Amino acid sequence: MSQNGKYPRCQQRGSSPADGAAYDDQIVSSATESAAAVTARVPAKVNLQLAVGPARPDGYHPLVTVFHAVSLFDEVTVWQAERTSITVTGENAAAVPADKTNLAWRAAAAIAAAAGRKARAAAVRIEIRKRIPVAAGLAGGSADAAAALVACNELWQAGLSAAELRQIGGDLGSDVPFALLGGTAVGRGRGEELTRALASGTYHWALAFAPAGLSTAEVYATCDRLRAARSQSGPVPPADGSRAEPAPALSHELMSALRSGDPAAVGQFLSNDLQPAALSLQPALRRTLAAGREYGALGAIVSGSGPTCAFLAKSSAHAREIAVALTGAGVCRAVARASGPVPGAALVRQDSAS
Ligand code: C5P
Repeated sequence: MSQNGKYPRCQQRGSSPADGAAYDDQIVSSATESAAAVTARVPAKVNLQLAVGPARPDGYHPLVTVFHAVSLFDEVTVWQAERTSITVTGENAAAVPADKTNLAWRAAAAIAAAAGRKARAAAVRIEIRKRIPVAAGLAGGSADAAAALVACNELWQAGLSAAELRQIGGDLGSDVPFALLGGTAVGRGRGEELTRALASGTYHWALAFAPAGLSTAEVYATCDRLRAARSQSGPVPPADGSRAEPAPALSHELMSALRSGDPAAVGQFLSNDLQPAALSLQPALRRTLAAGREYGALGAIVSGSGPTCAFLAKSSAHAREIAVALTGAGVCRAVARASGPVPGAALVRQDSAS
C-alpha cells in the first residue's frame, strides 16, 4: 500500500509471477494513463487460530482469529463494458456463480455506488481466474471480492483509500477486509476488525484439498449444535439452564511463537474451534490430518470452516515431502504448496486504452 493510504497503481504488463516475492516486485506506485483493463491478484488465507464465541442476535459468531495470507492466488481482471458480466475459469470454475450473486460482481457494484457511477458507466466485464478452491475454508470468494474492489477502484479512478475499501469489503463478507490487507493479522468482531500481528519469518505449508466443499454457514450451525449437545450431556448444569461458551480469546502462546518466528512453536499452538464441526461433516478429514502428522508436519489443522487441511512444514522441501506423501496416501483430491505471509490484494497489470 502506498504511503498516502491509496492503493498503488501499476504500470507493468506481462505474465504473472510464480511466487510471493516476485509478486511484490510487480507492485509499483507511479501513476499511468487511464486503463482499459486492470488485473489484481489476491491470496488465500489460513487461520492460525480461530476462536468462536456463541452466536450473536444477528446470527454471526464473535471471533478472535489470526489470519495468515498464503501464496495461493486468484486473479481478477476488469474491463469497462456495455453491461456487467462475469466469467470464471480455473480450479472448479463450474461451482462458482457467474451472476450478480458472485461477491466480485457485488464488489464492483459497491465501488460504482461509492464513486457515484450509474447505469452504463457502472458496467464492467469481470474475469476471475481461480487457483483457490471453492467452499474450501481458504476465503476464495472473499479474495475475489477484494481483488474486484482494488481493480475497479483503479479502472474507474475512484480514488478510494485502503481504509475505505476495507470498510466496503466488510459489508460484502467477513473475510474480505483481510483479503485486502494480507500478511498476518488478528481479526475480531465477525473477523472484519483487523490489527496487524507482529510476526517474523516465513512459514511453509502443504494444503490438502477435499473432494467436496463445505458451506461456511453449515459449519457454524454444526458447531452450535455440537456445543449444545455437549452442554446437555455435561456433568454440572448451571441453575438457569444456560451454558454460555466463554468469550473467544487470543492465544498469547501463538502470538509469542509468531514473534519469535519459530515454526515448531507456531505449529504447536495452531487451533480451530470449527474443526470438530468440519470433522463431523466430513469424517474422512481425520485420516487426512493423521497422514500429515505422520509425515512430520509441525502442525495439522482444518483451515477456517474447512474442508482444506493445512500442514505447517519445517521448510519448503519438507512441505513438498508432505504434499507428495498426502497424494500417495490418497487422502485428498489435490495438494498445493504455499508460503506465508504474503501481501493482500494488489494491482499486478494494467493495459492502457490506447
Ligand atoms: O460473512 P460471510 O458472508 O463470509 O459469512 C458466511 C456465513 O458464515 C454467515 O452467513 C454465517 O452463517 C457464518 N459466519 C458466522 N460468524 C462469523 C462469520 C461467518 O456465523 N463471524
